[in-house]
Amino acid sequence: MNRAPDVVDPPAAKPEAKPQGALSIFVLGGTGFIGRHVVAALNVLPVQVLITSREPARYQSTYPDAEFRSVRFERLLTTDAWASLVSDVDVVVNCVGILRQRSHESYDDVHHRAPAALAHACADAKRRLIHTSALGLHHGAKSRFLSSKLLGERAVTATGCDYSIVRPSLLDGDGGFGASWLRGLSRSPVHFIPRAASGKIAAMMVTDLGLAVAALAAMPTLAAHREIELGGSHGYDYAEYLRTLRANYLDSRALQIPLPNWLARIGAHACDALHFSPFSYGHWILLQRDNMPSPNSLPELLGRAASVVSNAKISAKN
Ligand SMILES: NC(=O)c1ccc[n+]([C@@H]2O[C@H](COP(=O)([O-])OP(=O)(O)OC[C@H]3O[C@@H](n4cnc5c(N)ncnc54)[C@H](OP(=O)(O)O)[C@@H]3O)[C@@H](O)[C@H]2O)c1
Repeated sequence: MNRAPDVVDPPAAKPEAKPQGALSIFVLGGTGFIGRHVVAALNVLPVQVLITSREPARYQSTYPDAEFRSVRFERLLTTDAWASLVSDVDVVVNCVGILRQRSHESYDDVHHRAPAALAHACADAKRRLIHTSALGLHHGAKSRFLSSKLLGERAVTATGCDYSIVRPSLLDGDGGFGASWLRGLSRSPVHFIPRAASGKIAAMMVTDLGLAVAALAAMPTLAAHREIELGGSHGYDYAEYLRTLRANYLDSRALQIPLPNWLARIGAHACDALHFSPFSYGHWILLQRDNMPSPNSLPELLGRAASVVSNAKISAKN
């Protein structure tokens, strides 16, 4: 079993040129919350890392040593479109995702059709593919965000490439859009808790996810890890999770007030319509169900127990 390297914080600069014969790893969405931590974990291994962004120029100063490729999933919907992009790499790690659709970026293109085409290209070129998905996807969910991600998983599975679908739980860590909102909410004196938000969430640190994905990327085959679920060791409901995050900053307790479900549902739709906050209808669906990894592959990949969210070092600005 390959073990993950020690914890790292992004961006970790790549100190040396690629050693001869080293793996070349292509991180799609390497500028995002998950992608940055995957890149940081890879950068302490003797591998070459290539990163994508829709706008590489925006990130070049943050990653001065990185090799960037410009990629827009909505324009990469055929196997041929991906062929040259994956031709000179050994492993592709897909960390691309959108919380909300934008003018030309639909859930179906970004979460389903482009990953399907990518997986076909990986099958043709015999490249390994690690596809980052999410815990809690299920048939019949009335959310296009969730259903597009489930279709993406199924499409990757059907291609016959050497793939691993990685389903992480809710992530905590510095710099994540959702994580920053939840940390901020936890510090407010009043928490509104939707009555049905009773599902258990195995929140985990994004640094652990980066390390686990790096460990997978270093494996010669992904055959033993086709579908893996990752999470922390404790299942929190939403109210408990906010209390846990709050304890990182404050000794005082917040007043937790129940919110009627109809109001939470309208609020989720309003947030989607206004592109406001990470709260979406898809997340409202997830909050009402247990989303525990089964089994949890994180300890096996890390060679240690998952980091504990409540003990995480949290910087004041987050
Ligand atoms: N955050 C969590 O708690 C969590 C937990 C489980 C699963 N996930 C899933 O993991 C995925 C990534 O999450 P994240 O939190 O890392 O998101 P994020 O911080 O928003 O990062 C998204 C990444 O995708 C890239 N991207 C966005 N639209 C693109 C497009 N049309 N074409 C190509 N690249 C595009 C972005 O690159 P540029 O902006 O540089 O172009 C960025 O690197 C999502 O699908 C999410 O559902 C997240």
